[in-house]
Formats: sequence, structure tokens, C-alpha cells
Amino acid sequence: MGFLNGKVAVVTGATKGIGRAIAEALALEGAHVVICGRDEAGTRAAVAEIAAAPGVEVRGQACDVRDRGQVAALFALAEAEFGGIDVVINNAGVGKFASVEALSVEDWHFMLETNLTGVFHCCQEALPRMKRRGGGYLIQIGSLAGKNPFAGGAAYNASKFGLNGFAEAMMLDHRHDGIRVTNICPGSVSTEFSPSMAKAEWKIQPQDIADIVLSLLRLPERTLVSYLEVRPSRPPKK
Ligand SMILES: NC(=O)c1ccc[n+]([C@@H]2O[C@H](COP(=O)([O-])OP(=O)(O)OC[C@H]3O[C@@H](n4cnc5c(N)ncnc54)[C@H](OP(=O)(O)O)[C@@H]3O)[C@@H](O)[C@H]2O)c1
Repeated sequence: MGFLNGKVAVVTGATKGIGRAIAEALALEGAHVVICGRDEAGTRAAVAEIAAAPGVEVRGQACDVRDRGQVAALFALAEAEFGGIDVVINNAGVGKFASVEALSVEDWHFMLETNLTGVFHCCQEALPRMKRRGGGYLIQIGSLAGKNPFAGGAAYNASKFGLNGFAEAMMLDHRHDGIRVTNICPGSVSTEFSPSMAKAEWKIQPQDIADIVLSLLRLPERTLVSYLEVRPSRPPKK
């Protein structure tokens, strides 16, 4: 059906927004896709909607990437259903914006544990399985907030700055295992990521990030794009 026929992909945070667009694009290219969100009904609904396209193979279950046991269960599901794992899209992420003084300890942990520890959990589950297959591809959805601090962004910035270091070190550790690692860092994407961010036509659309993921997966195995910045071409002038 497409260039990903027979490949198995896990996409975290794929009930809506960027993850959802990526999961749909991978499935339409023939990948067997496993998705999650924290919300069980939302995950079930997304699986049913993605599966409505002809020939698509998709599974999913509720999984909070902060919880190592739930992540282990998600990867075990992917392996049991489809026989292994080739591609992981570490997309699940959250943002709450407040000054350091105003930020609650709970919100600090919420962001760091989702955006950083959650990625670590998924990579630890994925790496041995990819090594058994002779290679694989780990794609993180980072952010320009991983390079550009902004007022009110301390915890979110810290999580995405941290993700840059994590992803690059992991790339250096595992490229000799045939495992490629890319950190895609978008600016404003048209989703409902936080109450302060509305959808808009001038923003990067989730499908654009999905197209970038497909382009990366199309590259020959000898070549690796390790870090990618993506911006709206024409944001409103300040
Ligand atoms: N939108 C932007 O402008 C923008 C820009 C740069 C980078 N990003 C990054 O892109 C990624 C996706 O953002 P988005 O805009 O698509 O957000 P979104 O529309 O809010 O979608 C987030 C998805 O992640 C899931 N999720 C959240 N916490 C989770 C957890 N602990 N475990 C599992 N799933 C979880 C959500 O489902 P549940 O609620 O059911 O858990 C949902 O499916 C994030 O990493 C974000 O930092 C976004």
C-alpha cells in the first residue's frame, strides 16, 4: 500500500494534534501503527477513526508515558500484535506556562516527567527491540522552545532544552546499532496544545509535520538528519 509496508510504528500522544496526523500518515503508507493517549475513550475513538481508512492496521491503548509500567505494556502490545518495532514517534507532550515564582511544583513535574522522562521510558522500551530487528528510527517532537527561552516558559523550556541533549546523546550512543534519531523542533503548530494557543491558518499544520516525518523515513539508511527546525513561513509581524 505504501513505502512503509510491513513496518511497525508506535506514536505517543496520537489522539489529536501532531501525533494524530503522524499516525494517520504512517498508517496510510502501510505501516502497522500503535497509538496512545492518557484518555482511554479518546484513544479508542482515535483508533476507530484512523482504522476507518481502507487497508489500515492500527491498535492502541491508554498509556501515560510518565508511567514506566504503562509504557512497557504499550510496547508489549505492539510486539504482540505486529511482531516487533521499527519506528517510534515520541510526540506526547504538555505545556503549562507561568513564571518560576508562580509555577506549582506539580506543574514542574508534570512537564518534566511527560516531555523528558516519558521519552526516556519509550526509548528504553524501543531500543532493545530495534536492536533485535537490526535497526530502527526514533523521532522526537521537540520544539523551538528547546532553543529559544521565553517568559513564562521556564519548565517547558527546560523540558525541551533537555530533550535536545537527550536526543543527541542517544543518537551518538546508538547510530552504530543502525538506529537513527531525529529531533524535529517546530515553532507554532496549529493545534489546541494549550488554552493560550488557538488554531490558525498561518501556523504550521500538523500534516506538515507528518510530511516531514515521511520524508525522514524515506531517506536512505546511510543518511541521518539529527536535528531539524521548522517554522511558519509568514508569522504575523510583531
Ligand atoms: N502545538 C505547537 O505549537 C507545538 C510546537 C512545538 C512543539 N510541539 C510539541 O508537539 C507535541 C504534540 O503537541 P500538540 O500540539 O499536537 O498537542 P495536543 O494537540 O495537545 O496533543 C497532545 C497529545 O498528547 C497526549 N498526551 C499528553 N500527555 C500525555 C502523556 N503523559 N502520555 C501519553 N499521551 C499524552 C494527548 O492525549 P491525552 O490528553 O489523552 O493524554 C494528545 O493525544 C508536544 O510534544 C509539543 O510539545 C507543539
